[in-house]
Amino acid sequence: MNRMIAPSLLSANFGQLADDIEMLNGSEADWFHIDIMDGVFVPNISFGFPVLKSIDELARKPLDVHLMIVEPDRYLQRFRDNGADIISVHYEACTHLHRTVSVIKKLGAKAGVVLNPHTNVNVLDDIVAEIDLVLIMSVNPGYGGQSFIQNTFSKITKAKDLIIQKKSSALIEVDGGVGLSNASNLFEAGADVLVAGNSVFSSKYPITTISDLKA
Ligand code: DX5
Ligand code: ZN
Repeated sequence: MNRMIAPSLLSANFGQLADDIEMLNGSEADWFHIDIMDGVFVPNISFGFPVLKSIDELARKPLDVHLMIVEPDRYLQRFRDNGADIISVHYEACTHLHRTVSVIKKLGAKAGVVLNPHTNVNVLDDIVAEIDLVLIMSVNPGYGGQSFIQNTFSKITKAKDLIIQKKSSALIEVDGGVGLSNASNLFEAGADVLVAGNSVFSSKYPITTISDLKA
């Protein structure tokens, strides 16, 4: 069983981003989770390529880029060029998901597909064998610091069953409202990677919190 943590930089202090990145470099964090929001797919705007590039120059762990944008195909090459190692697109934002996933893989990145809380895991039936990551939203995307949606547990079970049935090597990542109160149960339910924004960056001892989330 994997127990990986991907702190979300959305909750970092942008005035001292370099310090926060260095803290994560020295922690047990496995990936840097980078939330890209366009103000159209979600009701919030985060940051774009120059910030991603700066993060890439300092980060010594894979960049896990979560695209909350419409028409992600228009920008895949640029996200890859600016440092994305894993690129996840929303099922709800992709008309030709198979093509989008193929392009991400051709660019040399790992491909993930994200499901909003209302989207059934079954929609991945014909794509799960092709992808590296199933990203299950446990909040409605757009903001950090929201409350975890309990139904996520049954979605993890369904995703795990589907991955096994289709002989997929995809990892399961859970994003939103993850903290010390639910991390261990999420790993036990079958999650491989947990995104943690608020719980890490609002902690007085973020490095310890990251270790505790894994424990
Ligand atoms: C929400 C983002 C999350 C967010 C998680 O739209 O996709 O990655 O930063 O933040 P927390 O852990 O605070 O819920
Ligand atoms: Zn995210």
